[in-house]
Amino acid sequence: MLSTHRQVTGRAGAGLFPLWGPPLRFRSADVQIGRHSFTRAQLALGDGPAGYGLMIHVPPIGPLDATASEESISAAERYFAQWYPEEPVTVFSCTSWLLDPQLAEYLHPESNILRFQRRFTLLPELPPDDPHEGDREMMRLGLQVTPPERSLEAEDLARVPQHTTLQRAFVAHLRSGRHWAKRTGVRLPAAP
Ligand SMILES: CC(C)(COP(=O)(O)OP(=O)(O)OC[C@H]1O[C@@H](n2cnc3c(N)ncnc32)[C@H](O)[C@@H]1OP(=O)(O)O)[C@@H](O)C(=O)NCCC(=O)NCCS
Repeated sequence: MLSTHRQVTGRAGAGLFPLWGPPLRFRSADVQIGRHSFTRAQLALGDGPAGYGLMIHVPPIGPLDATASEESISAAERYFAQWYPEEPVTVFSCTSWLLDPQLAEYLHPESNILRFQRRFTLLPELPPDDPHEGDREMMRLGLQVTPPERSLEAEDLARVPQHTTLQRAFVAHLRSGRHWAKRTGVRLPAAP
C-alpha cells in the first residue's frame, strides 16, 4: 500500500489517499474481520457521552453474502469485547449508498444488497449539502467508475457499463432526473 501511495501521489506515507481506510487501519481504529471492516467510534448525545459504536464497512472483496456478513458482525462483537472491554458497543452503524431504499425499485428482493438493507433500521434522511454527492459516491465506491468533480452529465452516464441490474438502475434512475443518496442504518449488538 505504501508503494501504491508513492506511485499515485508521488509522496511517502498513506495520508493522501482519498479514502479514510489506510490511516485508520494503521492506528488500529479500523479492523477487518471477515466480510466487513469496522471502525471504532465514540458516541455523544447532547452534552453527554452515549457509549461506543462500530461503523460497518463493506470492502470490495466479493459478493455481500448474508451469512458471511452476519458471521463477520458476530465475530466483531466478540473481538471488540475482548480487546476493548472499556468500550462497550451500544450500536452498529453503516453509512453507504448500499442503504438507499430507492434500490428496492430496481433490485431483486432477495439480492444481497436488499437483504443487507433489511438487517438495519434506516435513520431519517438528512438533506445533503450537495444533491449530486450521493450519485458520485455510488458511481465511485459502488460501481467503481471514476466520477467527475461536478454533477453527472449524459457523457458520464454513457461511461457506465450496462451489464448488470445495478449498473442499469444507476443510469436509469439518474436519467429520470432523480438522485441517489448515501443513507445510514443502525442495529443493536446481539449480546447485552
Ligand atoms: C456491495 C457489493 C459486494 C454487492 O455485490 P453483490 O453481493 O453482488 O450484490 P447483489 O447480489 O445485491 O447484486 C444485485 C445486482 O447488482 C449487481 N451488482 C452488485 N454490485 C455491483 C457492482 N459493484 N458493479 C456492478 N454490478 C453490481 C449484481 O451483478 C446484480 O445484478 P444482476 O442480477 O444483473 O447480476 C458490490 O456492490 C461491491 O463490491 N461494491 C463495492 C464496495 C462498496 O460499494 N462498498 C460500500 C462502500 S460505502
